[in-house]
Amino acid sequence: MIPKNRREKLLSQLNDGALVIISTNPEQLRNGDVYYPFRPHSDFWYLTGFKEPRAIAVFSKEHYTIFLRKKSPEREIWDGECLGIAKAVQTLGASQAYPINDLKHKLPQLIANATTLYYDFKSCILDDEIIQCLDGMQTQSLNEYLHEMRLIKDDNEIVLMKKAADISAQTHQLAMQQTKAGLFEYEIASIFDANFKKNNVEHAYTSVVAGGKNACILHYINNNQVLNDGDLLLIDAGCEVNGYASDITRTFPVNGKFSKAQRQIYQIVLDAQLAAIDCIKLGEVVTKPHQVASQIIQQGLINLGILQIGEDLSQFYMHGTGHWLGMDVHDVGNYQQNNQHRQYKVGMVTTVEPGIYIRKNDKINPQYWNIGVRIEDNVLITDNGNSVLTKAIVKEIDKIEQLMRLK
Ligand code: GLY
Ligand code: MN
Ligand code: MN
Repeated sequence: MIPKNRREKLLSQLNDGALVIISTNPEQLRNGDVYYPFRPHSDFWYLTGFKEPRAIAVFSKEHYTIFLRKKSPEREIWDGECLGIAKAVQTLGASQAYPINDLKHKLPQLIANATTLYYDFKSCILDDEIIQCLDGMQTQSLNEYLHEMRLIKDDNEIVLMKKAADISAQTHQLAMQQTKAGLFEYEIASIFDANFKKNNVEHAYTSVVAGGKNACILHYINNNQVLNDGDLLLIDAGCEVNGYASDITRTFPVNGKFSKAQRQIYQIVLDAQLAAIDCIKLGEVVTKPHQVASQIIQQGLINLGILQIGEDLSQFYMHGTGHWLGMDVHDVGNYQQNNQHRQYKVGMVTTVEPGIYIRKNDKINPQYWNIGVRIEDNVLITDNGNSVLTKAIVKEIDKIEQLMRLK
């Protein structure tokens, strides 16, 4: 669906007299006059296709008005060309376009005929003067409508997600093949930086490249330690393509061969992941994968004597089994409907990412200490079950070992 159709679909669900106001992200200052690379707000990008900072869209069934930066020859010397007002109507399909600084003068006119204002109070950046213009209007949150739309991916969105999955999968395989003891985590992280750049895509999130005990730190991003012979390496890394993310984790031995203890833990996680993926289908309740994965992990750890019956699993498995994936890596969309866990629908994409993390613990046989394993794939719900978008990357023990022999 193109942004115009998305706006129409959104408006068709709102009251007559609805007016939508949506802004993009602010630019983020790093220091001095240096900014972080700009990434548009996903809601704004989804509804407008416009990727410049400092822009606000206001639309109803009658008009689509965009406020954006004026062209400025002085600024463009530093920052490059921007779209400007003159080209905005045609390029963005707007009915009218104005400089962003005109918002406060134009808004009273635009809201005059509106009965309900829809905007997201948290992400919509409006200054106080503008908020005052809206005073007294009936306002409603946009998210329940907009995020429900974003949750169901159409064919074009799936093409982008598949492309992101393919580039990330190829890069994970490169990383597996290039890993060896003595390298540093950042050297493996740089394979992702280089291959994503080479494909002209962005990281969807900061890579986790965690050798040995670092794999037990869930959000480890320092990526600065040496890789040791005999340790596992956990890599959670993925790119986004035109704003659509992939989110993949693989765990493999630094020296290419799983030890017995690593193999035992890895196989439990893999069994849990395969069983969780298997139950993802149209109509299944979204809590099922976590329930299935947790049961398998619990039983597996009890069988190895790592967990005692009645003990809390969360000391070894402390996160969920998946989340929605889309323009945001932890994508929008409710997990509940009418106060109940909702069911999968065709076009949703979820991650499936069980794990086991065993820190040093005197109650556990030391052969299991510092083993952290997570396996994460991206799964699309289809008419006849599901499709694993990230299946190009190996995850069975013998296939990983075989790939790592092909250096
Ligand atoms: N990469 C973030 C996550 O797996 O949720
Ligand atoms: Mn994830
Ligand atoms: Mn991840």
